[in-house]
Amino acid sequence: LLLNTVHVSADPLTKDNINKALKTAFDKYKGLQEGKNADYIPALAKVDSSIYGIALITTDGKVYTVGDIKSEVSIQSISKVFTLAMVMDQSGTRAIFDNMGVDATGQVFNSIVAIEQYQGAEMNPLVNAGAITTTSLVDGKTYDEIWGKIEKKYNEFAGRDLKVLDDVYQSEAETNQRNRAIAWLMSAYGHIKTDPLRATDIYTRQCSVGVNAKDLAMMAATLANAGKNPVTGKQVTKAENVPEVLAVMATAGLYDDAGKWLYKTGLPAKSGVGGGLIAVSPGKFGIAVISPPLDVAGNSVRAQNAIADISNALGGNPY
Ligand code: DON
Repeated sequence: LLLNTVHVSADPLTKDNINKALKTAFDKYKGLQEGKNADYIPALAKVDSSIYGIALITTDGKVYTVGDIKSEVSIQSISKVFTLAMVMDQSGTRAIFDNMGVDATGQVFNSIVAIEQYQGAEMNPLVNAGAITTTSLVDGKTYDEIWGKIEKKYNEFAGRDLKVLDDVYQSEAETNQRNRAIAWLMSAYGHIKTDPLRATDIYTRQCSVGVNAKDLAMMAATLANAGKNPVTGKQVTKAENVPEVLAVMATAGLYDDAGKWLYKTGLPAKSGVGGGLIAVSPGKFGIAVISPPLDVAGNSVRAQNAIADISNALGGNPY
């Protein structure tokens, strides 16, 4: 749900302009009372709906924030981007193309119809079926070895040690029958070649990692900076794979609303049902907003509006 399509002339990326764009958008949407917390995972319904924070980090490592950048929410589907980058580094970008595809499904993020339509092909790594399959592709003999790799990669993207929010993990693990069914279907169609329930559980854990708005902006800024964390200076993911990660985000990052989002902003982005949204302006900045109330497609209402305005003000649209 995007409220407006204003095309303003872009201001250069100076400190004053960035701070002004952040504050203007923050204030404009503070009173917006639309959407509601996700509640199909019981722990998410209990999260404080008033958490609202914005962070923007430029590719030269400058950090700008407004609002609540301390409160953590679960990363949820935003995690899918970073496991995707990891698997592309490990197995090559072709592995994604061959195992699930890179097409927008036009269906909700946990659609079973979309799997059935092409027997698990013509999917993408950002809907649940593709994401659980992507997690199943991470090399490793044991649960702990696979999880350790994912955790380390996320920490490098964020530039600090992140922790799993145990209440969210427990709550989703108890109620993720639908994702287990999705994983079994992807296994039945030959896309998941390891234990589908183990892949689902590791996927559930990756979705439960706690992040604040600054962590998310740092992860986005690392993608904006060709895979190199702009603050720690570490090359976290291969630069040559970043364009393909961003293309998948542009295609499917906001699920069945990905087209509307791209039309208005031009930015590769990814939402999560925890209320986070990241967007990437390649070579310029990564931006993130946390605000738990979601629209019907599962995307944060305030986050979509605030990021669209800020990016428009700062000339973030690459088109
Ligand atoms: O698998 C799920 O349903 C959640 N762990 C993640 C879904 C999600 O974030 C979709 N986002 N908009």
